[in-house]
Amino acid sequence: MPQSLPIGSNSRAGPKVIRSLSALRKTVARARSNGETVALVPTMGALHRGHLALVRLARRRADRVVVSIFVNPTQFAPNEDFGSYPRTWTADIAELAKLSVDAVWAPSVATMYPEGFATRVVPGGPALAGLEDAFRPHFFGGVCTVVAKLLTQVQPDIATFGEKDFQQLMVVTAMARDLDLPVRIVGVPTVRENDGLALSSRNAYLTTAERAVAPTLNRVLKDCAAGLRRNRPLGGTLAAGRAELKRAGFVLDYLEARHADTLAPVRRLSDGPVRLLVAARLGRTRLIDNIAV
Ligand code: PAJ
Repeated sequence: MPQSLPIGSNSRAGPKVIRSLSALRKTVARARSNGETVALVPTMGALHRGHLALVRLARRRADRVVVSIFVNPTQFAPNEDFGSYPRTWTADIAELAKLSVDAVWAPSVATMYPEGFATRVVPGGPALAGLEDAFRPHFFGGVCTVVAKLLTQVQPDIATFGEKDFQQLMVVTAMARDLDLPVRIVGVPTVRENDGLALSSRNAYLTTAERAVAPTLNRVLKDCAAGLRRNRPLGGTLAAGRAELKRAGFVLDYLEARHADTLAPVRRLSDGPVRLLVAARLGRTRLIDNIAV
């Protein structure tokens, strides 16, 4: 077998599915010894066009693409949807094969968190902005712990994350910087349905009636942003947006204007660049979105 056998040598048959750390290390080491660059796309599966945009960018930026599929229990609270989170393995692998992904890193929970696992990354800064963290206090600790492990395991040159989870993108970027992880975190714009709804694995939970209301979330963000650009006052604009979401049937967690780089509160547009961020529940489905002003 030639020494230079690339890790994607079986990509016509689909990505190589890797389930053990030793196999992952061998695969990555072979790519490295060939002088190839590696991109990682961390996901929890149930892949949609949003995830695939991350994969496409990774494909353009690196010689080898590893997609991780791991529904991470440490970022779900006991009352959240870990057990029912959609799992669509066969369809996921078929989509990744079409994009010539080289490898899928799919560890078991026991591989990621073996008996005796006792260490957790505790993020500060953007992870304490009072947005997602105020409603899901366990969330960013779980995300950072698993992403730190994934980055250490794969040691990619770049890793792609979606702007759809804007606070998560900022938290992971800060963690990589603070822990001197030798990786570039690359943000990818949100992929949407034609009616503006941000693609999310959790959209599958929406009933037909809720699905019809769901695009209001993005429309209200766009209306607020347009108002702010026309110099409408920030407080009144956000108050009107919140009221409209409630009228449409959402239970609002937050609709906030924040500094796009720090997530610090802003009082006026000139404090910016400003990002609007929203989280709201529709029935049993929690939706989030954000846009630049
Ligand atoms: P998951 O929700 O599967 O999302 C994986 C990646 O896809 C994240 O970076 C997310 O921001 C991105 N993404 C999701 N919907 C998108 C959309 N509509 N447009 C663009 N990108 C989108 O986020 C996670 O998993 C987990 O927290 C993870 C980072 C994998 C750690 O467990």
